[in-house]
Amino acid sequence: MTGNVEINIDGKALTLPTLVGSEGEIGIDITSLRNQTGCITIDPAYGNTGSCESSITFIDGETGILRYRGYDIAELAGKSTFVETAYLLIYGELPTRPQLAEFSELLTENQMLHEGMRFHFESFPPTAHPMAILSAMINAASSYHPNIINKREERFPYHAARLISQVRTIAAFSHRKAKGLPAIYPKTNLKYTANFLHMMFSHPGEDLELQPEIVKALDLIFLLHADHEQNCSTSTVRMVASSRANLFASASAGVCALWGPLHGGANQAVLEMLKEIHDEGDDGSKFLAQVKAKVGNRRLMGFGHRVYKNFDPRAVIIKQQCDKVLAQLHKSDPLLDIAKKLEEIALNDDYFVSRKLYPNVDFYSGIIMRAIGIPLDMFTVMFAIGRMPGWIANYKEVMEDPDSRIARPRQIYTGPTLRTYQPIEQRQ
Ligand code: ACO
Repeated sequence: MTGNVEINIDGKALTLPTLVGSEGEIGIDITSLRNQTGCITIDPAYGNTGSCESSITFIDGETGILRYRGYDIAELAGKSTFVETAYLLIYGELPTRPQLAEFSELLTENQMLHEGMRFHFESFPPTAHPMAILSAMINAASSYHPNIINKREERFPYHAARLISQVRTIAAFSHRKAKGLPAIYPKTNLKYTANFLHMMFSHPGEDLELQPEIVKALDLIFLLHADHEQNCSTSTVRMVASSRANLFASASAGVCALWGPLHGGANQAVLEMLKEIHDEGDDGSKFLAQVKAKVGNRRLMGFGHRVYKNFDPRAVIIKQQCDKVLAQLHKSDPLLDIAKKLEEIALNDDYFVSRKLYPNVDFYSGIIMRAIGIPLDMFTVMFAIGRMPGWIANYKEVMEDPDSRIARPRQIYTGPTLRTYQPIEQRQ
């Protein structure tokens, strides 16, 4: 279908234009609908609604395709790095050598937090979830750099680099704080992911011995999470950006949206589920029977996706990586065995097959993170670090769009119609 679409509302004919994307996706442009007919569309959870045009990421959920700026995710996973991919997402092209060097230098220059932020960390209780700390501290960071708020466009490359770099420092500091350990500062001679592991696991006077396979595995996890079109957290970032809020405020809102167990929080929920199954001595079949019977609305965490109805290409890469990392580290994990068993049963079970539920990116990522020593409550933080370039690219797209307006959906009101105020003594 191309060209216009004719619709008829209460006998009134209306012609709506269509938009065709570069991969042939078709959208019906309803921007004139309310003006012309007085009607709005209703699409709870936006399963049929395109909120924007974007040139960043392409997903075909029916055939399991994910591409960043036209590059297939499997090719990037095999050949690129997180930092190079971050540049690609934000600036639209793979960097030349000098461009990558400049970008890396900006990341290094901006990796230190303002010392004043140390006091903010002190005010969180030891029980604080690192996602709460991350969201609050990203927002707080903007107050140490007033030009993030005042002159956002001109200094965008600095703000973007500062955010990508500092989110990793904040994440590591929040882990150290929760464990009552002294903060470890970033090093200028370490690359992005190695530096993060150093800040997480080194001790004063004793640097972590970096294992290349661990650095590579975590870098891959960051890369695979780097963007995923208009998901819940990215849409949140765009929504906040549409009000012309600054980059840090928009990203901080993205962290909050990501936290939920139906979104980025699923990686933590998967591990909790696998542990529970393991502790109960179940091989997974009892648990799956409960899921299918919807006992307590239980779900097989790490399964299902709003867009992927075939397979999640990230899950395929992560599963392979999982086996590789455990073999390299000479580790075995009973939770991996349970995960594989669950996957095997689910992929042959009509409940999951008929609903097109397949493992998503979170199903196996937690096993890798556990193997490399990332604590459970930091799993979603790893997702947030990875997703930062995607949020920044989407923020930039909103800001650079001359037609961008504040995002403001409508509703169908279902409450009481007009009634008069009753004094309290007359109320039943
Ligand atoms: N386990 C069991 N049943 C499921 C699951 C699951 N993981 N996911 C969906 N279903 C069922 C629903 O109960 C529903 O069944 P019904 O038709 O009998 O009512 C049907 O499949 C459709 O489910 P919806 O909730 O309508 O699907 P939606 O597209 O809204 O949800 C979501 C997608 C949130 C990812 C869902 O599949 C889910 O909850 N998965 C588990 C959590 C998870 O892994 N989230 C991470 C997603 S990936 C990411 O954000 C990085």
